[in-house]
Amino acid sequence: MKFKLIKMKSVNSTNDTAIKLIRKNQLRPTLISSIIQKKGRGTMGKKWISLRGNLFISIFFQVYNKGVNFKQFAILNAYLIKKIIAKYSKKKIDIKWPNDLLINNKKVCGILQEVIFYKKKQFLIIGIGINTNVSPLSNKLRSTSLKEMTKKKINNNIIINEIKKKYQRLLQDIKRYSFFDLKRKITGNK
Ligand code: BTN
Repeated sequence: MKFKLIKMKSVNSTNDTAIKLIRKNQLRPTLISSIIQKKGRGTMGKKWISLRGNLFISIFFQVYNKGVNFKQFAILNAYLIKKIIAKYSKKKIDIKWPNDLLINNKKVCGILQEVIFYKKKQFLIIGIGINTNVSPLSNKLRSTSLKEMTKKKINNNIIINEIKKKYQRLLQDIKRYSFFDLKRKITGNK
């Protein structure tokens, strides 16, 4: 199924926009992106430093509780995004479970997966923040960006379209394949 694509200029948090849409009964699988994120959220109540130029998106869809569970979904998210951003880095990308992608031990991407209920239906929201063009300065955690890797400005729209395509495929595949087959399909490992 095709995802609806909503491109925003400025939001507090794309995950919060996703929650609002679901509560307004807009239930079709959707990808929301925003150029500016004013109150980006990270895991465990932390803030996600959202510098202009970087990529902020949330994908949401209904889950029917068949096959893949949420923990497994978190694993698939990490592999899927790793595969996409690997095209921009000659250096190895490491997954720091469950939700961080690191290059040279520096954070390049964070994923915030949330589950909400609406009218007895379950929805999965996958918020993805990628440091595409700028590395946020933080004294707690070292970070890097894809631009630092490639020395070229990164076009966020190309990555957004790629993520959209991959998740559309994943939602199709989930109906037919086991978690292990899905993981194999994403990573290409036997
Ligand atoms: C983490 O590493 O703590 C997860 C960070 C997730 C950040 C993304 S940016 C898009 C989406 N909207 C949010 O408010 N958070 C996620």
